[in-house]
Amino acid sequence: MIIAIDGPAASGKSTSAKLLAEKLKFLYLDTGAMYRCIALAVIENQIDIKNKQSLKDFIDNFKLEMRTINGVSVFLINGENVSKKIRSSSVSKKVSEISAIPSIRKYMVSMQRSFAKNTKCVVEGRDIGTVVFPKATIKFFMIASVEVRAKRRQLELRRLGEEITLKDLQKDIEARDKYDSERSHSPLKKAFDAIEIDTTNMTLRDQLSVMVKNVNLKINRK
Ligand code: DC
Repeated sequence: MIIAIDGPAASGKSTSAKLLAEKLKFLYLDTGAMYRCIALAVIENQIDIKNKQSLKDFIDNFKLEMRTINGVSVFLINGENVSKKIRSSSVSKKVSEISAIPSIRKYMVSMQRSFAKNTKCVVEGRDIGTVVFPKATIKFFMIASVEVRAKRRQLELRRLGEEITLKDLQKDIEARDKYDSERSHSPLKKAFDAIEIDTTNMTLRDQLSVMVKNVNLKINRK
């Protein structure tokens, strides 16, 4: 059973997805983190993504290891836990461009499908309800104002020791929204059967309660 949660950057997906998975005792898969891992590896290895052969060699040799610790997916590249590094602003700036590359998406989608196979899983991303799991049992699409999203990102980065102005974060988020929604391959888009939740003025508790209510309704109807 798959619960798909899509939406733009910092729309409230991650925290509520994690809490929902915990509450339902489902696994939790953060597919944005997977794209961040490959973006980190591209940056650290200075891969020229415009060069088809070097991109191919890189993908052929890229090994992303996923472990589930307390129901949450943790990512390792060459044995190193990169969970913290992938949240840096340098990765955030590069990740949209890298995640738009079709061969990278192909690699990731196949990994996501095999991870969630025969499990009960909350999967969060941009194309989960539209492309990766179009038959998901229930789909949510989260949105929020760009101002609120920038504030959320600022708090997240502050916890990592990075200080960025709201104005810069807003610009980054808008650029990422544009890139993610306008790319030709699997763009960010609300699935026709997704339930939209605007989290701008919602507390986390409200978000979780709306989701749980909808999941219960759906399960009881089956
Ligand atoms: O959710 P996030 O901000 O950590 O995601 C990072 C980037 O990864 C986002 O800008 C777009 C990309 N992404 C994607 O293309 N498809 C997904 N399923 C998840 C994320």
